Amino acid sequence: MSASRSAHRLPGFAGWLLAAGVTTLGVGTPVPASGEVTFSKDIAPILQRSCQRCHRADGFAPMSLVTYEEVRPYARAVKHRTGLRDKPGVMPPWMIEKNIGIQRYKGDSSLGEQEILTIAAWVDGGAPEGDPADLPPPLSWPDRLAWEIGEPDLIVDSPSFTMPALAADWWGSFDPIPMGLTEDRYIAAYEVKELHDAKNKEIAVEGAAQQTAGLSIFHHALFKTLNPDGDNFATCCNTHEAGRNAEWFDPEAGKQVKAGATLFFNTVHIHANGRETTARMRVGFKFHPRGYTPAVHSQLLHIATNPDLIDIPGMAKDVRFDGMVTLQDNVKVTVFEPHMHLPGVRMCLEATYGQTVETLSCAGYNHSWVLAYTFEDDYAPLLPKGTILRIIGYFDNSPSNPVVPDPRNWSGGGNRSVDNMNINIGQVIPLTDEQFEAEMEKRRRTFLSDGERRAILGCPLCVPFGRETPQAARSQ
Ligand code: HEC
Repeated sequence: MSASRSAHRLPGFAGWLLAAGVTTLGVGTPVPASGEVTFSKDIAPILQRSCQRCHRADGFAPMSLVTYEEVRPYARAVKHRTGLRDKPGVMPPWMIEKNIGIQRYKGDSSLGEQEILTIAAWVDGGAPEGDPADLPPPLSWPDRLAWEIGEPDLIVDSPSFTMPALAADWWGSFDPIPMGLTEDRYIAAYEVKELHDAKNKEIAVEGAAQQTAGLSIFHHALFKTLNPDGDNFATCCNTHEAGRNAEWFDPEAGKQVKAGATLFFNTVHIHANGRETTARMRVGFKFHPRGYTPAVHSQLLHIATNPDLIDIPGMAKDVRFDGMVTLQDNVKVTVFEPHMHLPGVRMCLEATYGQTVETLSCAGYNHSWVLAYTFEDDYAPLLPKGTILRIIGYFDNSPSNPVVPDPRNWSGGGNRSVDNMNINIGQVIPLTDEQFEAEMEKRRRTFLSDGERRAILGCPLCVPFGRETPQAARSQ
């Protein structure tokens, strides 16, 4: 444990409140007392901003959270789910821990602490409606799917697959699908939606309904674009996972897809959800403008625990496995994506360079909501070659983990959802020494005033620990 790591730990929220002895949140406005919070004035705006993208009549979530009548029966559940903060089950689904590591990610949908406390105060005060005249104007959703990346430039559908209500997991691949491109383009971002018919069906098998995001059957799918000339260098994409959000590539590292390319789902994992379900994946792509060329190329960097070593006793909680790589290149880390299975509950990503040990990100994990966390451009870790990147995965195979079917069972590594994986499906951009120095200089200019010496989290050589200059540290 090094000084630099603990320096980035902020006191937990509860500790902060105790220390400050107040019920306001620093510079923000005070959280209203229970009796004053109403649905119309305080809660409806939060639901519009953070929930209705999925929770509306034709949305992806099981129930609508638009009118007072719709929300009232779920008031306690809304307080509970939003109050989970970074723990599995939280709503909206976003599990980055806010008291450690880098805090700036693209598409961060989490609620602020003040919004969470306002919801709690509303429910504790009896969940009153208030004056309907205070309601914000209702939102309209022109596109049923509400893409996070905005209106896609290209949409490609996978073939449909029908899964019985109760069946063993299925793995396989789909034949490459023509994308219909007549010119070369560069992909800036992509997002995958599962379209299925499960929502309006009765539960067919008693007790078999799994807790799965919106009753999805595609647990995950690895896919890539294949260029017609067989040149697959730097082509898109990565993966779809249940409940996964959009992924943005670094703006300087767009992925090329050529005219005549196909989309190949090479590994697809499908699991039953308790209702016979027919579903397909819809991939939306956002392109860079024509004429764009990338300055750098990003690539996948998997960090994994050897599955043969994963050994989790029945009824065991707080089981931990690590995985490590030593970086052979200088890199910018653009995406943190924990991938575990049902017993997985948390993963941290840690970087060690010389005497500097830094926790970059920690996130809760939920097998139904496998999220990719894309760092904001000015916050993406810049790690010199020789850095050891470590993942630390935490597993809960005890009755306190509601998604484990039978915690009495031993659980090892493997592909089924009841087995385990401990992987960070990360994206990195390898950088030459010159590119790396230029990126660090940009970072220093963004965060430090002239001559200031203060650690920048995720950039150990921006201001090296115990050294006078970055150059001195580089020559060690
Ligand atoms: C990305 C889509 C999405 C967003 C955004 C989202 N939800 Fe959900 N929500 C779901 C899905 C899908 C489920 C069912 C699966 C599950 O429970 O994980 C769900 C389940 C829930 C449940 C449990 C329902 C029950 O039957 O007990 C509550 C409560 C809830 N959401 C509240 C909220 C609130 C409040 C917000 C905003 C602050 C929100 N959700 C944002 C998709 C979403």
